[in-house]
Amino acid sequence: MIADRRVLVGVSGGIAIYKTCNVVRQLTEAGAAVDVVMTASATEFVRPVTFEALSKRPVLTSLWQRDQALAHIHLGQSSDLILLAPATANLLAKAAHGIADDLLTAILLANDAPVLAAPAMNDRMWANSATVRNVEELSARGWRFVGPAIGDLAEGPSARPGRMAEPEEIVTNAVRLIRSATSALNGKKVLVTAGPTREKIDPVRVISNPSSGRMGYAIAEAAFARGADVRLVTGPSQLSVPCGVDVVRVETTDELRDAVGESLSETDVLVMAAAPADYRPLSSSEQKLRKVDGAFSIDLEPTVDVLLSTVDRRSPGSVIVGFALESEDGVARAREKLARKQLDLIVLNMAREPDSGFETTSNRVSLITPKNVLELPLLPKLEVAERLLDRVEALL
Ligand code: CTP
Repeated sequence: MIADRRVLVGVSGGIAIYKTCNVVRQLTEAGAAVDVVMTASATEFVRPVTFEALSKRPVLTSLWQRDQALAHIHLGQSSDLILLAPATANLLAKAAHGIADDLLTAILLANDAPVLAAPAMNDRMWANSATVRNVEELSARGWRFVGPAIGDLAEGPSARPGRMAEPEEIVTNAVRLIRSATSALNGKKVLVTAGPTREKIDPVRVISNPSSGRMGYAIAEAAFARGADVRLVTGPSQLSVPCGVDVVRVETTDELRDAVGESLSETDVLVMAAAPADYRPLSSSEQKLRKVDGAFSIDLEPTVDVLLSTVDRRSPGSVIVGFALESEDGVARAREKLARKQLDLIVLNMAREPDSGFETTSNRVSLITPKNVLELPLLPKLEVAERLLDRVEALL
């Protein structure tokens, strides 16, 4: 996702460094070239060799290192992002006041790459007006912050912010800052629906389908990584909500329609990946229905078509994406849905395709617009989400 990008990770001296090891590993695995710069006190907690092994690159610790003259000028300028983790109170104070008495603070003064700081300190230090003012000053310069979180500190439990954000949250936000710089989805409002809906037959039985929500959750995750403000409206699903994504949980197709309707006027991109139940019982029983001998039937009525219900209320210029799950005549039927539901793009899934569709981690789809059919190979769902969003960006 961030292959060929350069991230400078500035590490100052705090116990949260043990989490930074994981951050560096994840950024390296995501394809970035990670240059770690440590302050002197950081090296008291973890030796540079640890970060060297994780980043597979030399680690810098001093302005006076051999062969590294002018590193403080070059390194910051050639980076796509400077990530400070942990950012101690002392580092924030020095940066806010333009002090440059070691390699890391000199880099901060001599660069114009975006900066993301993950503060970590005692909760009283974070609440201290000196730190509050320093953070205000750095925010005004365009620095971004992730955390601090509320939770246990090295010195014991705390109910106030101070603890460094978790590696996953730090990496998600770092990737988002890098990718949003070149994405048309940056700052756009994206509404994604996912999962099945459930229609009650009686208190213990429902009409539903085996949708896991994976495709929609992957789209929400990928859109957030590109800088979008993402709302995920999800039917029942076991999956954890991707970091940074706002979630609305629904049960029935009517609730799905209402939740979509509420956000529609300010939505730039709607992706309907949900698999709503198309029918519901004409009436649902208050009491559990008893078993009967022989055949049993219930009367069903159609639920609302959520996509169709949005046609008159979409915001001008918005991009509307639907899905089509077909077992025959895929392209023709998907095109018919594209036209009838007035979509800009439809994602065609063929039922019975191996390793594809409901309850799988991969998918083989075609991306269909009125003029064009793009057949994708079998790919992990997150990769399908990326390809889909490439097409959405072109339509924005
Ligand atoms: N959809 C919807 N409301 C429904 C059913 C489906 O908004 N009640 C959306 C789905 O989220 C998907 C698209 O419509 O984006 C197509 O769904 P699909 O089930 O393939 O199509 P249907 O319109 O239900 O038609 P059919 O079952 O006849 O193929």
